[in-house]
Amino acid sequence: MLHVFDEVAALAEAALDAFAGLARAAVEKRGRFTVALAGGSTPRALYAQLAEHADLPWDRIELCFGDERAVPPDHRDSNARMVHEVLTHRPFIDAARVHRIPAELPPAEAAAAYERTLRTLFPDASLPRFDLVLLGLGADGHTASLFPRSPALSEQRAWVVSNPVETLGSERITLTYPVLNAADRVLFLVTGADKATALRDTLEGSAAIEDVPARGVRPASGNLLFLVDRAAASALS
Ligand code: 6PG
Repeated sequence: MLHVFDEVAALAEAALDAFAGLARAAVEKRGRFTVALAGGSTPRALYAQLAEHADLPWDRIELCFGDERAVPPDHRDSNARMVHEVLTHRPFIDAARVHRIPAELPPAEAAAAYERTLRTLFPDASLPRFDLVLLGLGADGHTASLFPRSPALSEQRAWVVSNPVETLGSERITLTYPVLNAADRVLFLVTGADKATALRDTLEGSAAIEDVPARGVRPASGNLLFLVDRAAASALS
């Protein structure tokens, strides 16, 4: 499903409504709401809106991360740092419910540690079923830290892996496809003309997943939603 917005502000508003609605419903039904947050810059607008909503059931919301750069949490590239600066510094969010990837550790250890964290959040589960996974889209078609032709793309057993990303010349830690595709709902937030080709190749045509990793995100639940702006949608047929 695809929704195209004229303005990024309207997109962020819609994302907020979706997040709030899903959170309230999950807490009502199952007593908690588990979400994997996207990194990068696009979701900042949503996180800034969430930071203004103390009225959400934050004491029942478990905030996890879809991926992380291999840097400490105070590093300017850290997704955990961005989310803290924009959202989780707010007093109504208990740090005990913010589960960042411990990327200050060596990458493989960080991935293993994070998998242990997820297994405590989702005990006795063959896969963690997040109520919501938020994802962005890179201009090269990557999502989370699943990059074209990277080793993480073929991981079918581990929930979290680290892998070298050639194009970045650095390591990334990421949730794997089995976890992303076990989610009850996946929400992509994509803005900007620089994403137009990647979005077209994700939604249309027959590019290989190896070349456009976002194509590999196909939640078994069928609940896959793209909230995009007009610039990002400009190459769609
Ligand atoms: C990250 C993200 C990554 C991001 C895309 C888009 O750690 O950077 O998880 O997958 O969503 O790179 O990034 P922008 O939103 O900054 O364009």
